[in-house]
Amino acid sequence: MKIAINTGGGDAPGLNAAIRAATLAAHRLGWEVVGIKNGYGSLYSDNPFIPLTADKVRGITMLGGTILGTANRGNPFQMPYQKEDGSWGLEDRSDEAVEVFKKHNVDALIAIGGDGSMKIAHKLTQKGLRIVGIPKTIDNDIWGCDVTLGFDTAVSTATEAIDKLRTTAESHQRIMVVEVMGRYAGWIGLHSGLSASADVILIPEVEYEFEPIIRKIKDREARGRMYTIVVVAEGAVEKGESHFVKGKTLGQSEQLGGADEYIAKTLSEQTGKESRSIVLGHLQRGGTPSTYDRLISLRFGAAAIRAIAQKDFNKLIVMQKNCITRIPISDVANKMKLVPLDGDTIQTARDIGICMGD
Ligand code: F6P
Repeated sequence: MKIAINTGGGDAPGLNAAIRAATLAAHRLGWEVVGIKNGYGSLYSDNPFIPLTADKVRGITMLGGTILGTANRGNPFQMPYQKEDGSWGLEDRSDEAVEVFKKHNVDALIAIGGDGSMKIAHKLTQKGLRIVGIPKTIDNDIWGCDVTLGFDTAVSTATEAIDKLRTTAESHQRIMVVEVMGRYAGWIGLHSGLSASADVILIPEVEYEFEPIIRKIKDREARGRMYTIVVVAEGAVEKGESHFVKGKTLGQSEQLGGADEYIAKTLSEQTGKESRSIVLGHLQRGGTPSTYDRLISLRFGAAAIRAIAQKDFNKLIVMQKNCITRIPISDVANKMKLVPLDGDTIQTARDIGICMGD
């Protein structure tokens, strides 16, 4: 048996732990393991695979990033190519990708990725590849998963950063607007904002208006709190508007961002208070994985090998109610897990007086 591991899309803390567990568990069954270099894009190169030996995966549980490398533009169904007139287009090279796996005698693929990777995995299974998925994204937005690897670390990083911003905001009596990642879901914003005692949390699931935010700032001032911390998820949406987009590259998802500056400027204009904005950005993807992320990543990795050993293909390994289980990848493709408006976390924020912008 020969298996390949892919870590496509944005990196997340815990990827290496999943690679290590899958590799070691596979070796114990006498299987060969290779990793795909820098995502599916390298399948079209001469040397797409890295042999995953015991030595290669030694000591990597606590390392952030991915030892395999990754890329955001490796969708085999939408590969960028240059046209004769110099412009760029997208072409479907998935059949070639499938051929590469066949040529190298790869029996099964472990696709570690987010919603984009699961969409690709689902389409590859329809072309005959045998795939087991592992849910990875700091955004925590994969449907069917209570939690994805990388989320816990990203939330801790964001929480720690917001804690640090509080002291400077308080000293200067400023409004501090902190933009966090998460794409179209507010998991990072809600969990870090709540944990760091933000005063205002704006997430894509709840359209915001300025009036309640200003009311909150004034209310705090009336109680002698001269500063306000606003946590805004990059995908947050003002009522009647759409989310901020920084840019779009061919073959990649749109890049979100910019809400922080807009909100800081508007709040300054409308309250007369000084404001500053900060984007936490890729800090949230970096660093050492938390204990929880290491643990679930190791569990996901070993569980993926058990699924392959049982020939239970085209499944995603997921955490549900604290137990590892498997669901069809097809159930997950093209869906997104958003923060439920009736969930207790959002309710907790409201119960303790945090303004959600509505
Ligand atoms: O999906 C993970 C994520 O970090 C999002 O939170 C963010 O919008 C995006 O990736 C950033 O992607 P890139 O690394 O391509 O800028």
